[in-house]
Amino acid sequence: MAAPAMMMPAAAFQLGAGTIKFSYLAAAVLFIFALKAMASPRTARRGNLTGAVGMLIAIVVTLLSGGLHWRWIIIGLLIGSSIGALLALTVRMTAMPQMVAMFNGFGGLASATVVIVEFWKPGAPSTDLYFVVTVAVSTLIGWITFTGSLVAFAKLQGVVIPSRPIVLPLQKAANFGLLAVTIGLMVLLGCSPSHRELLVPIAVLSAGLGVMFVIPIGGADMPVVISLLNSYSGLAAAATGFVLGNIGLIIAGALVGASGIVLTRLMCTAMNRSLVNVLFGAVGARAARTGEAEERRVTSWTPEDVAMVLESASLAVVVPGYGMAVAQAQHAIKELDDLLAERGVTVKFGIHPVAGRMPGHMNVLLAEADVPYEQLCDIDEINPEFEHCDAVLVIGANDVVNPAARYDKGSPIYGMPILDVDKARSVIVCKRTLGPGFAGVDNELFYSDKTAMLFGDAKAMVTAVVRALK
Ligand code: TAP
Repeated sequence: MAAPAMMMPAAAFQLGAGTIKFSYLAAAVLFIFALKAMASPRTARRGNLTGAVGMLIAIVVTLLSGGLHWRWIIIGLLIGSSIGALLALTVRMTAMPQMVAMFNGFGGLASATVVIVEFWKPGAPSTDLYFVVTVAVSTLIGWITFTGSLVAFAKLQGVVIPSRPIVLPLQKAANFGLLAVTIGLMVLLGCSPSHRELLVPIAVLSAGLGVMFVIPIGGADMPVVISLLNSYSGLAAAATGFVLGNIGLIIAGALVGASGIVLTRLMCTAMNRSLVNVLFGAVGARAARTGEAEERRVTSWTPEDVAMVLESASLAVVVPGYGMAVAQAQHAIKELDDLLAERGVTVKFGIHPVAGRMPGHMNVLLAEADVPYEQLCDIDEINPEFEHCDAVLVIGANDVVNPAARYDKGSPIYGMPILDVDKARSVIVCKRTLGPGFAGVDNELFYSDKTAMLFGDAKAMVTAVVRALK
């Protein structure tokens, strides 16, 4: 068996209790600095690195203090880092939410499986109430996170499960019933801890709860769910930290749990939706209202027309959306920005908090193309500017500029704060068709007298405008 060989005495690396505690403290401080730095695109890379160093310290110290030989630690690090690097290098930006969903899911699964092993380990304090409760809580949250994340992944990827909300008859009652039975079994386990086998139905029911919880939620709301599941994965890790008595895991789990909740709240606020509405509203279940598009008249411009209008503007605002990410148009947009600046045009970027498919999606892409942070304005900053703006270039954005969000109570995006591009003197919308965005609703902006459509792929069209300007 490999296990005894892995637990070789690591005499040279024997860590004292003080060293272990100090290392966990250092890791916790690094995590907090990392979170702080990740709050701004300017310092996000540094934050990521800081967090990774903290995690490396925590993992290595935990494994060394468990008596694992450094050789195995290095092998594990090499395997894990290679898989991580491969995923990071190959994943498309537009598939990032799916990747985060899988990270969360495996985090939950890891927490849940570790506690199962701890619970059945010979000599485990399985009659200790504190131990049993923390094991049961970690099992509950860990399995919900795992299966919920798998469903979120499948919905976003469009495999196996359709992305629309699937609402079963008596869904809410069934969910509450399932939750009540699971909690009942947890209480039973707490009262009679010798019945260790009760953990199996708790795990199975929790896995079912994860599926039932996410399946009625539509694909458009999935990023909020992923953020919430991220928080759950942190809570599961913290509960496992209590089971193992590992302070590092408790701190890291609590930070992930708290930051996931903060992000969930920020996203709900940006869409003017309550978390209850996101989780139980089944938004997107009804048929989207499309189809009028072809019958109404729109103005269509050529790249040369667009170049002329932009060149003569004194303030131009670029509003990027999901289509910019799909087309990878950010570098062409940066070139356009430079050319307009050379011609004395002030260019700003209006960034909606939920533009694209993940928080900060537009910021990341524009930063990759070296667009200066000073030009990026959030919704509160840019909205008062539209009235004085000569031209707005909407590139692959749709829902975030849809005026129906202001007044159409029947619209799934009703109440979502939008970028007030319709207040500018002229609006140019670059997209391939008159088709809807994520929310599946028509956009009256396209038919406004002020609006001109620039039909085509965002990268090809912006490149053509650049060519015309040159
Ligand atoms: P959307 O409303 O999804 O619209 C994107 C538009 O891009 C589409 O109408 C599409 O029109 C166009 N497009 C796609 N590929 C293109 C290409 N190659 N070139 C040019 N245009 C292209 O995007 P948005 O305005 O960014 O709004 C985001 C939506 O996603 C909101 O409803 C938001 O609630 C939701 N959401 C946000 C997040 C986060 S956290 N950011 C996560 C998930 C969902 P054509 O097909 O006609 O080209």
